[in-house]
Amino acid sequence: MQRICMVGTGYVGLVTGTCLADFGNQVICVDLDEEKVALLRGGRLPFYEFSLQELVERNMRQGRLSFTTDIAGAIRRSRVIFSAVGTPSDRAGRADLRQVFEVARTVGENLNDYKVVVQKSTVPVGTGAKVKALIEKHRRKKTPFDVASNPEFLREGSAVEDFMRPNRVVIGTWTQKAEDILSEIYRPLYLNEAPLVKTSVETAELIKYASNAFLAAKISYINEMALLCEKVGADVKVVARAMGLDHRIGPKFLHAGAGYGGSCFPKDTLALMSFAREAGIPATIVEAAIRANRHQRQEMIRRAEAMLKEPRGKVVGVLGLSFKPQTDDVREAFPLLLIPALQRRGARVRAFDPIAMPSAARKLRQVEFCKDAYEVAHGADLLVIATEWNEFRMLDMRKIHGLMRTPNLLDCRNIYDPDEMEKLTFTYAGVGRGVHLLRAAQRRPRKPAATRAEG
Ligand code: UGA
Repeated sequence: MQRICMVGTGYVGLVTGTCLADFGNQVICVDLDEEKVALLRGGRLPFYEFSLQELVERNMRQGRLSFTTDIAGAIRRSRVIFSAVGTPSDRAGRADLRQVFEVARTVGENLNDYKVVVQKSTVPVGTGAKVKALIEKHRRKKTPFDVASNPEFLREGSAVEDFMRPNRVVIGTWTQKAEDILSEIYRPLYLNEAPLVKTSVETAELIKYASNAFLAAKISYINEMALLCEKVGADVKVVARAMGLDHRIGPKFLHAGAGYGGSCFPKDTLALMSFAREAGIPATIVEAAIRANRHQRQEMIRRAEAMLKEPRGKVVGVLGLSFKPQTDDVREAFPLLLIPALQRRGARVRAFDPIAMPSAARKLRQVEFCKDAYEVAHGADLLVIATEWNEFRMLDMRKIHGLMRTPNLLDCRNIYDPDEMEKLTFTYAGVGRGVHLLRAAQRRPRKPAATRAEG
């Protein structure tokens, strides 16, 4: 059992802190936000994450997990301090490390005995060394401490599962003592045969960026192939499947769509590009992935506009508002780019998301939020599937068709079969497979849809 302090109760801090408590450690989670701490003390979560609520409640009940705003006290009582504070992008795309350094200073000022200070947030290579120097500068006596890097690889929506069954755990340290303490903390996972990668702080820091940027590049790659597929009349779903059957490539992260979003890939790719440049090694592949992602998103917006012909006065229904399913996180979410773009061109927007409507409502104006997909479709001139929530995969598309004023379907996640949609006389566009069908459909005379409702 370790006494652990987790600074930052965002998604990474809260999931990690709770899971470490579940292993039997004594965990104090700290946040400066009093409202958030009050909420958590009441057993409620500030965001939605699958199965986390139950885990928080259980560990609080059993006395292993607590929440406080008293950072100094929590640090003084703990042997291992995890820092999971925010590292947003600054204007130049660099990670803004002010909060990370603030934590380091506070640790220095409260270093009452030996502690390991572990960086959980994604930070550029070299941050560990800066944190070490800051703690040294602010400690009052020469109390010993160690700095470590332990990047997280949790996906939103399956973060608890990812923590409990990781592909790997990375522990970056400069001393055997710190390595031993962290290895002991992760022993329950190691017993479950999760590979433990033990390395230096710098290597651990880079592993995180290298992994995220690689995944982002994989997505951009397949999105570029998707656009190419449309020009040459190929189907990207089949291309991706066949590519993925090659074990060296693998099938995951080859889904063409509206580009990657979320709080990690956009920010981390920019930060990697920026610190690689500073190091004199331009990350050209990562830069290209970023450009391709921007292009992809714009292309999907153009596609929506083209399907409407003239957006002014038209009604657009948007299904899904979060950056991916199983989360209410709307940071860098495609629908939040699409909706204002269509509104600027004069379209009216109605939308539905199973979970993310409250978080999206804080960032959007004049959107009519609906109770389900059918209400969204009612009277719409275009229906956009923006996020592939499971409940959008099996909609009664005949009914949807009947409800729409003009049956235009833009399937940004390729979850419907173009031929079936064509049979239902939708004007369908997907990603990497739909546009040739769209053209074919425009060439063919179509029977007026008798079943269509007027909006
Ligand atoms: C990502 C990584 O997958 C995690 O390993 C990492 O820990 C996390 O960032 C982080 O740095 O904290 P996350 O942002 O939750 O996790 O989301 P992903 O599931 O990776 O999806 C990112 C974006 O890529 C989403 O917008 C998703 O729709 C998109 N995506 C994903 C595609 O467009 N195609 C794919 O094939 C896969």
